[in-house]
Amino acid sequence: MQPITDTKLYAAHLEELQRRYDSALESANLEAVVIGAGQPAPIFMDDQHLPFKANPHLVQWVPLLKHPDSILCYRKGDMPDLVVFKPADFWFQNSPLPEFIKDAPLNVLTVSSGVELLEHVKKLSPRTAFIGEIREQEDSFGLKRINPQKLLDELHFGRAIKTPWEVECVRHANHLAIRGHLAAELCFNEGGSEYDIQLAFRTACRVTDEEMPYPAIVAINEHAAALHYQHLDREPGDNRSLLIDAGCAVNGYASDITRTYSDDPVFGLMIEAMHELQRELCIAAEPGADYRELHIAAHHSIAALLKEVAVIDMSPEEAVETTVSRSFFPHGLGHFLGLQVHDVGALLANAKGDEAPRPDNDPYLRLTRILEPGNVLTVEPGLYFIDMLLEKLREAPEGKHVNWGRVDELRTFGGIRIEDNLHITESGNENLTREAFAAVTAN
Ligand code: GLY
Ligand code: MN
Ligand code: MN
Repeated sequence: MQPITDTKLYAAHLEELQRRYDSALESANLEAVVIGAGQPAPIFMDDQHLPFKANPHLVQWVPLLKHPDSILCYRKGDMPDLVVFKPADFWFQNSPLPEFIKDAPLNVLTVSSGVELLEHVKKLSPRTAFIGEIREQEDSFGLKRINPQKLLDELHFGRAIKTPWEVECVRHANHLAIRGHLAAELCFNEGGSEYDIQLAFRTACRVTDEEMPYPAIVAINEHAAALHYQHLDREPGDNRSLLIDAGCAVNGYASDITRTYSDDPVFGLMIEAMHELQRELCIAAEPGADYRELHIAAHHSIAALLKEVAVIDMSPEEAVETTVSRSFFPHGLGHFLGLQVHDVGALLANAKGDEAPRPDNDPYLRLTRILEPGNVLTVEPGLYFIDMLLEKLREAPEGKHVNWGRVDELRTFGGIRIEDNLHITESGNENLTREAFAAVTAN
């Protein structure tokens, strides 16, 4: 896939952002906003810093991922000023600006000192808010309205509708990550360790650890039972199963993709069945669908699979009602995806900040909205054998409905998660992940 060069799409994105900011500033009775990129967090008693993660509100305007201390100033109805901070510092090299912003409707200025940044902010109306992280008092340039909730609620609610530019960024992030997923699968089949597999992923995508939107989860065998398993065993061993959850970012927009592999005949069939039920859930993700209902539907499908493979001997309905299915699928079906992997606005019922509540028993569901065209989200059902949860289930009255011998056979494979990224359209959705797998494997 070619890099995104469509400057018209980017210009239209900026126009839409202006419209959204005009409305949000108006509702919050404000004239202007200063968005700070932020700074990298210092390491305790050291002269180093943690990797820099730019404020997503700034990145939405301009993918300025490597320019700490820069700001964007937006006055209602005006062209935004991007004030790029390029310190005169002989210890480091300043990063280049993204090429495509050259012709965009932005005033781009460069400064090299905090005093110059402050001068710029001082020119703005007293009704100016600051959006960004405050570590030192002076970080907000003396502005008193810091991260006003009313302003943020409207902006966060709006961020759930991606512009065509944003959708293209996530599409590209999927294409890039699929190369890594194919390399990872190959490495697993050749007997690679978790460390080798994550290296194969990063080498294929040509990304550093810091450039990934989240740390890759590369879990072999029982390790797949830890939902966000974070270690990387170096030693190759007996590769029975692999769960890999890894994505890439393009212009700050993430992909978030999981696949599970095994050539064990029984566990392999369970993976196939999970693909099947995941694809059905994806089809149901259309405008007007309540994501909470999709999440419950996922529980019913997973409970039916548990019965089919003789892990439980109760009806799927009973397994869901008694929360038995939650011992095997304890997380939410998915989340919004964008500048943040678990993107904002997913629990908001409206732009005023009212909450769309989670169903009872689902504290980890991260998306409770009715789906709309422009949403970008994940669908990621899982089925795991998690010791901690199974021990509790064994003690509960429902424990008698579990075939514990079967559980012991399967727990050595850890678990299964299948995760795709969807773009909701007027008529249904585009599955950005499966499209990318098909396109990359066809080439
Ligand atoms: N990679 C984190 C998640 O799937 O939500
Ligand atoms: Mn996810
Ligand atoms: Mn994931």
